[in-house]
Amino acid sequence: MSTKHRAVAVTLMLACTVAWNPVATAQTGTAPTSTYKPSVGQAGKDVVWVPTSQALVDRMLDMAKLTPQDRLVDLGSGDGRTVITAAKRGATARGIEYNPDMVAISRQAAKAEGVSKRATFEQADIFQSDFSDATVVTLFLLPSLNVRLRPTILEMKPGTRVVSNSFDMGEWEPDETAQVSQGCSGHCVAYKWIVPAKVGGTWRVDGKELVLTQTFQKVEGTLRDGNGAVPIREGRLEGTRIAFQVGDKRFTGEVNGKAMQGKLTDGSYWSGTLVGQ
Ligand SMILES: C[S@@+](CC[C@H](N)C(=O)[O-])C[C@H]1O[C@@H](n2cnc3c(N)ncnc32)[C@H](O)[C@@H]1O
Repeated sequence: MSTKHRAVAVTLMLACTVAWNPVATAQTGTAPTSTYKPSVGQAGKDVVWVPTSQALVDRMLDMAKLTPQDRLVDLGSGDGRTVITAAKRGATARGIEYNPDMVAISRQAAKAEGVSKRATFEQADIFQSDFSDATVVTLFLLPSLNVRLRPTILEMKPGTRVVSNSFDMGEWEPDETAQVSQGCSGHCVAYKWIVPAKVGGTWRVDGKELVLTQTFQKVEGTLRDGNGAVPIREGRLEGTRIAFQVGDKRFTGEVNGKAMQGKLTDGSYWSGTLVGQ
């Protein structure tokens, strides 16, 4: 983060009411407590610490449609608020944070909140960590760091939800954007992406050739039969769900590796197999 950006972040966050106080929360627990007190804007390995407001944490987890079956990872978990909130919703949640003092106060806070079994923290560099088993990724980093993480995220299981405070993923457009106004006075916008299935290639769909090219969640291509090729329109992926229009027919379906199948608007079924990439 540049000095200018850091100054903006610090100013914004000092003006912001920080509802979560991990140290105060932790001191209600029985374990020995750290006396470490983080300060907004303090240096971090690749980005300073600025906490997400609790209002936006709640909104981000709503956007992710977090369930108790999910495994969340917060990349650069700060004081642990996102991880602890996710664990309080029943999910298994993991924070990866480079600053060992932040890890210590996060663990204390998780213990004080009674969720230390489901909310775990490790001191590590996010760029050296394997988080491929997560079903939800949260982050509040920087655009350049998001773009650096993007190839790794795009290799995650299709359907994985990714929610970022304030910063985008470059050309990978968000599937959803939300803003909170109450309980947040700085960094109040979140973006969500759903990792798309990979569908680029040549498919055989009910005897026709479907050639698809993919740019993140957007899909283009043609459906060809003996009478010629018709361009597909409005092609889009939402995780493993695919939808596209050919002429007056709307295809919707599910992608499962080298197979996909679904229904047309008239209720008839279609299916396809990947025959070349
Ligand atoms: C802007 S704060 C966000 C904290 C938390 N995710 C939240 O939303 O409240 C970014 C955090 O990332 C941590 N961090 C920076 N570079 C990191 C790296 N390479 N690996 C792990 N953590 C890192 C910082 O120490 C800081 O706590």
